[in-house]
Amino acid sequence: MTSRGLLEKDFEQIDEFLHRAVTITLNIQKEHGKLLKDFNKDLVNNKEIEELKADVEKFASSFDMPGFKMSEMNSSETPHHHIHTTTHNLISSAFYGGGAAWEKQVRHSSTPRRVNGLSVLVTGAAGFVGSHCSMALKKRGDGILGIDNFNSYYDPSLKRGRQKLLAQHEIFIVEGDINDAELLAKLFDIVPFTHVLHLAAQAGVRYAMKNPLSYVQSNIAGFVNLLETVKLANPQPAIVWASSSSVYGLNTNVPFSENHCTDQPASLYAATKKAGEEIAHTYNHIYGLSLTALRFFTVYGPWGRPDMAYFFFTKAMVQGKPINVYVTQDNKEVARDFTYIDDIVKGCLGALDTAEKSTGSGGKKKGPAQLRVYNLGNTSPVSVNKLVTILESLLNVKAKKNVIKMPRNGDVPFTHANVTLAKRDFGYKPTTDLSSGLRKFVKWYVSYYGIQSKELDSSKDHSQD
Ligand SMILES: NC(=O)c1ccc[n+]([C@@H]2O[C@H](COP(=O)([O-])OP(=O)(O)OC[C@H]3O[C@@H](n4cnc5c(N)ncnc54)[C@H](O)[C@@H]3O)[C@@H](O)[C@H]2O)c1
Repeated sequence: MTSRGLLEKDFEQIDEFLHRAVTITLNIQKEHGKLLKDFNKDLVNNKEIEELKADVEKFASSFDMPGFKMSEMNSSETPHHHIHTTTHNLISSAFYGGGAAWEKQVRHSSTPRRVNGLSVLVTGAAGFVGSHCSMALKKRGDGILGIDNFNSYYDPSLKRGRQKLLAQHEIFIVEGDINDAELLAKLFDIVPFTHVLHLAAQAGVRYAMKNPLSYVQSNIAGFVNLLETVKLANPQPAIVWASSSSVYGLNTNVPFSENHCTDQPASLYAATKKAGEEIAHTYNHIYGLSLTALRFFTVYGPWGRPDMAYFFFTKAMVQGKPINVYVTQDNKEVARDFTYIDDIVKGCLGALDTAEKSTGSGGKKKGPAQLRVYNLGNTSPVSVNKLVTILESLLNVKAKKNVIKMPRNGDVPFTHANVTLAKRDFGYKPTTDLSSGLRKFVKWYVSYYGIQSKELDSSKDHSQD
């Protein structure tokens, strides 16, 4: 094999390869409208891909191409294996928007800008909690790379809006699924992440009755896929991930403490989060991964989720439409430990900062690693009726309430967090009450959706008809 550097025409050739890779993958997608797992299968058996690989290999064998890292190969790897892997990576990075420019963005975004800064992979970064955490980490000088599949469980334009905001702060979100092992492996090839903040999930309790498999796919299969990648990474990062207060399910022992029983989930969502906690135990036990589960309690705030009551109540009230307010089967008020997003963000950062290193490497455990579970709540439950009263006063609108019995759809009547552990271990102390937090949410809502005060006034008139 001769050795030579890259010339201008070589870059043109690489561009041509990338273009072919993108065209092939887009054609497969167009033809089949595929799910990712089938799509990967098609990539493996595709004739055009095979031809492309052969062309790339021929091209690469003429010189020592930096991207192929020939000099870093260890003796157990054949050049062919390496070229093959890199070819595959080339194709997958082409698919993900790829090539050198894409890798540069990945590196730039995940590089810390302070001494001893963290380099964090944030899954679900275009989501509500993920976007807030990414911004907070970035502000203090940590490097962040996001990944999100921008699914349409709720209005994806909101996710795009968050993405735009993060991009303004030089945070890059890779568009991809946590079930895509190849993509994850590639990201870990490029970046030695110190931490993973895993927030990607199929959220929402009621939607589980409509689309149960989406919960299994993201919250169980996706989580396992992520852990499989992380266990092989060198260095192995520490993982902080979102469980949920819903794991307390039918537990009536309040306030909820981490040592309470969590084996009576009331929804499939809760069951997948509980499964996640058990899976975390396994990966900690076998592979020495440092894992911290955070059980969030009803998080709300600006850039929040449209599928949550405070959000869709606001929307309906602004439009003068009625809202359903649930009571329990025995006519008791439903209450939630509503937790403001900034408090949750502080909890997430506290958990990241106190996470010990994973102990394994190359998929082998070297010693015991940290395994933690914390509640992150507000410690003061508020009834849904009270939530509506606060919104009424902030929006200056009288709500049209239908009071109905809570259907058996997975919701629980009451949540209340005991946060003693999080306070002890990383000084977690929620400071925002529901009125102050909702004021900030409404301010954002009105500005984001361009609601004129006239509209609010007219909906008020309407509601008094
Ligand atoms: N918001 C809350 O009140 C609350 C309460 C308890 C737990 N949680 C948990 O906190 C985490 C963040 O919640 P959120 O409120 O920000 O939800 P969110 O839906 O706004 O954010 C999740 C993000 O993950 C992405 N995603 C989903 N599946 C994916 C996949 N397979 N691959 C890549 N990306 C994927 C979605 O597109 C979304 O942007 C979730 O794990 C959720 O279950 C949230």
